[in-house]
Amino acid sequence: MSTDPSNASVPPIPRLAFGGDYNPEQWPHDVQLEDIDLMLESGVDLVTLGVFSWAHLQPEPDRWEFGWLDDVIDRLHAAGIRVDLATASASPPPWLTHGHPEMLPMTADGVRLWPGGRQAYCPSSPRYRAHAQELCRAMATRYGKHPAVVLWHVSNEIGCHNSLCYCDTSAVAFQGWLRRKYGEIDALNAAWGTAFWSQRYTWFDEILPPRTAPNFPNPTQQLDFQRFSSDELLSLFTMERDILHELSPGIPVTTNFMVMANCKNMDYHSWAREMDIVSNDHYVMAHDPEGHRELAFSSDLVRGVSGGKPWLLMETSTSAVNWQPRNVAKQPGELVRNAMQHVARGADGILFFQWRASKAGAEKFHAGLVPHAGTESRVWREVVGLSQALDAIEEVAGSSAANEVAILFDWDAWWASELDSHPSEDVRYLDQPHALHRELVDRGVGVDVVHPSADLSRYRLILVPTLYSVTDVVAERISAAVRAGATALVTYFSGIVDENDHIRLGGYPGAFRELLGIRVEEFAPLRESEHVQLTTGGSGTVWTEHLHLAGAESRAEYLDGPLPGIPAVTRNDVGSGSAWYVATTLDQPSQGTLIEDLLADAGVGFTAPVAGLELVRRVREEHRWLFVINHSREEVAVACRGQELLSNSAVAGTLTVEPGGVAVVRES
Ligand code: GAL
Repeated sequence: MSTDPSNASVPPIPRLAFGGDYNPEQWPHDVQLEDIDLMLESGVDLVTLGVFSWAHLQPEPDRWEFGWLDDVIDRLHAAGIRVDLATASASPPPWLTHGHPEMLPMTADGVRLWPGGRQAYCPSSPRYRAHAQELCRAMATRYGKHPAVVLWHVSNEIGCHNSLCYCDTSAVAFQGWLRRKYGEIDALNAAWGTAFWSQRYTWFDEILPPRTAPNFPNPTQQLDFQRFSSDELLSLFTMERDILHELSPGIPVTTNFMVMANCKNMDYHSWAREMDIVSNDHYVMAHDPEGHRELAFSSDLVRGVSGGKPWLLMETSTSAVNWQPRNVAKQPGELVRNAMQHVARGADGILFFQWRASKAGAEKFHAGLVPHAGTESRVWREVVGLSQALDAIEEVAGSSAANEVAILFDWDAWWASELDSHPSEDVRYLDQPHALHRELVDRGVGVDVVHPSADLSRYRLILVPTLYSVTDVVAERISAAVRAGATALVTYFSGIVDENDHIRLGGYPGAFRELLGIRVEEFAPLRESEHVQLTTGGSGTVWTEHLHLAGAESRAEYLDGPLPGIPAVTRNDVGSGSAWYVATTLDQPSQGTLIEDLLADAGVGFTAPVAGLELVRRVREEHRWLFVINHSREEVAVACRGQELLSNSAVAGTLTVEPGGVAVVRES
């Protein structure tokens, strides 16, 4: 791998970094020596060190043991391997939780969670915070200027197991957050709609986290608690980051996000603003035979969170994990395909959990770069192969994307849309964005997954799935983009409430009624598994609604179900653009047809869908690289010209990619 920092995309990290979590404290000295040799053999150039080392670094409140870590860092440095050094605050040691059980987190039912696993602390605990700061200061003082340390890694997956804590300490912190937000208690009463169910508060001190109650807790209280909890976790990061910036100036600071599957509790759009570099952890879910689709979506979302800038894949798995019900091993080639999906979508480094599969402990059945079987193994050979592949394509580092299609994604709308006491529990926030993304990917269309307040002016097609809650400002920006010429699609249960979760009156969807040229008088959700037929020959599930045209044209109606004859898909001319609406969950072929209609309307080119084929472009100024990722069992042929970097061969019109294969073409 290139180690010239002047060329680094996210200086001073290697161009396409390669490595993983390194936990030498689990191994004897001779194994640690072998580690360095194997790291060099496999091209590892960046390791994350010290993530769960707190108990080893500070075995007692007043006893510090840094010697072993000094040795490890020096050895890595001598070998030219760079270090992403964790602040080690991820999991408090037993002496701390034993001495201060009040710092343990609590569930909504009032159950204290015990130590013995990891991350057993209340995010608001002053005790935890004081000790984490002391540790961070000690780490930064000792290693802040060590030449091997190129990146700081605060804590680890902040909020993975303790994102929502309902204890009394959290209650006081929540009250403080509400005081800062609302100033006066009557402002909170108005925002929370406490005139309902006799919930009017007199003092902020009366307010609790939304603990398990006899009936639904106040929805805006629940929403504000989600917001508070995300902010509180973020403040754990900024608390340590500020120490690191002070004591280790010039070294970038990150923490690993978990943009994957249904990781819901952290609003990473607001977190990303505080990061020097965005990094993410991603694991495919084995129960999903097409888990690579969720990977593609999450990876596009990470790029959106990162503001389009390159990011680091901080953790993924070489093969099976240990924490799913059935931990399916990766098929031959899947490791490389998955990694290339991330690189295609902006990752400038691929790191794994973990370097060496553990011998003991809860994660001993989790794959590593070095498996239990050692280097005489398929996994090791694929690890080495991936490292070589990253070397071959390192010129893509620092490049980004230039897409014409955006999907709007908002954690706040996710939280609000999935609160209890709603019309249907079958409305799940991720369903629509995932379904739309899938159709775009299948047609070779690059897509940015961005926050609704992102600059929309560069997009020809803007997809607005399940944006249940929306501010006036954002609704107007979407409308303005359409008036200026964009095509937009809004899906049902969007624009229903404001930021306080208050209904926008006068007919749904209040925020987008005028833009869409429709008015909905009543929702008519469907029973579980119920289907309605459409005039187009397709069908819908989950949702229908009593929709009136108010300027829009109907593109499809229900044939049966609760509302025969009522429009299910509409289109409205607005300024020089158009605004579409879909009022049901379309079956997959209909979703594909809709996407093709939208792309045609927007003037965005697309290819005929090829099962299992992904075409993704990275760009930098006039340079373009086409990633061709073939998830299928068939050979595929793709029209393109340029230089294929993995085989270092010219492509003069048609590129064929073997079943399960990957190609990266510098296009000419
Ligand atoms: C992550 C975590 C790692 C390891 C990994 C296993 O959540 O950061 O420490 O537990 O999962 O897949």
